[in-house]
Amino acid sequence: MTDQSAKFSLGSDEADLPIYSGSIGPDVVDVTGLYKDTGLFTFDPGFSSTASCESKITYIDGDEGILLHRGYSIDELAEKGDYLETCYLLLYGELPTAREKEDFVYRVTRHTMVHEQMNRFFTGFRRDAHPMAVMVACVGALSAFYHDSTDIADPHQRMVASLRMIAKMPTIAAMAYKYHIGQPFVYPRNDLDYAENFLHMCFAVPCEPYEINPVLAKAMDRIFTLHADHEQNASTSTVRLAGSSGANPFACIAAGVACLWGPAHGGANEAALNMLMEIGTKDRIPEFIKRAKDKNDPFRLMGFGHRVYKNYDPRAKIMQKTCHEVLDELGVRDDPLLEVAMELERIALTDEYFIEKKLYPNVDFYSGITLKALGFPTAMFTVLFAVARTVGWIAQWKEMIEDPKQRIGRPRQLYTGAPQRDYLPVDGRG
Ligand code: CMC
Repeated sequence: MTDQSAKFSLGSDEADLPIYSGSIGPDVVDVTGLYKDTGLFTFDPGFSSTASCESKITYIDGDEGILLHRGYSIDELAEKGDYLETCYLLLYGELPTAREKEDFVYRVTRHTMVHEQMNRFFTGFRRDAHPMAVMVACVGALSAFYHDSTDIADPHQRMVASLRMIAKMPTIAAMAYKYHIGQPFVYPRNDLDYAENFLHMCFAVPCEPYEINPVLAKAMDRIFTLHADHEQNASTSTVRLAGSSGANPFACIAAGVACLWGPAHGGANEAALNMLMEIGTKDRIPEFIKRAKDKNDPFRLMGFGHRVYKNYDPRAKIMQKTCHEVLDELGVRDDPLLEVAMELERIALTDEYFIEKKLYPNVDFYSGITLKALGFPTAMFTVLFAVARTVGWIAQWKEMIEDPKQRIGRPRQLYTGAPQRDYLPVDGRG
């Protein structure tokens, strides 16, 4: 915090707006008093210049392509650590000691099963339901099954709900997948690590043993780590806003899952792969590039561009490497989809339009190809993003609830509708 302030004046009205500094990143102007002093609201649809909260969890420098969780770079966390360690870091603020890590893994692992009654909840859905539709419903339904951890005023219940969600999201996601393809649910195995257990629940069947490939399990864990949190993005802001009303954590995370589903956000990995399939062959790329540049065509290159990153998304760099590791392991180097992806990447990185607008491949561009190689159908891609992001949503929700200054989020608006007018009975209208 600084003792600087910005003066704002409009006619005879004046406001003295305090300026606060964070540990890194741009300072902020506190406009809380602006309306009281001048009668004006600020206007920033899309929040391009608005810091919606104070947070100690994640820092992004979009120009430099830097992503830090609690001060640690995503590159180091993804290369040297693992997903549950990152979860601990996001939730508690520090990397765990060996003992703390063992204890945390134990606590998460003991919550992996879901209430048996949830099986029946699943079977109420059509088989062809999109797994994200099933996720939205089932995550919201957790508040009905785990009512003993919905009191947000109780720190113990908050932590139990957090551990439950981190532990149960993979189970629910795998159930959504199994239901979708008509196979029996596979129960969690607590002797496996987080990513191994998830692959097992998705790909094992009761009639034969399933062998976990360590390269693929490592890739799964890395995908989870890379998606664990990303500052105040649309779904995280949704979770915070839902939570600001005092709604229970399961309901708030369900709201986050719903928001993540959109193609401009978490749905982009599914949309990116669908786009690659639609392009099909390298010779058709120029046609799609032309469409992406055409202002009158709503088409966009999915998996390119980012609201915050105006440089290479640091997660995309790691994801690209992981993608190649997985394809090498599975021997699918000459996958036509990958060829289209690589050529698209090459063209986009050298084309004036993309350079000028700073549209780099984002994490979803490579995660889609990797997830396909791992054996997931496109409809599951956003579900996996939701599994990974759960910890980020929870950490941000907890931070907000534990902030003594927390109030309900209630934005205002610039009203451009009709002013007050008289009601006319129906036979007097038109
Ligand atoms: N293809 C072609 N042109 C694009 C693209 C794209 N993917 N993205 C942005 N542009 C153009 C856009 O037309 C606009 O041009 P102009 O200035 O001439 O009007 C300019 O670049 C700025 O775009 P914007 O829509 O103002 O930027 P934004 O910050 O509002 O949107 C975005 C960010 C990620 C929604 C957008 O880049 C996009 O739609 N990308 C494709 C979807 C995608 O990959 N989303 C995943 C984001 S990363 C994962 C996550 O955070 O969930």
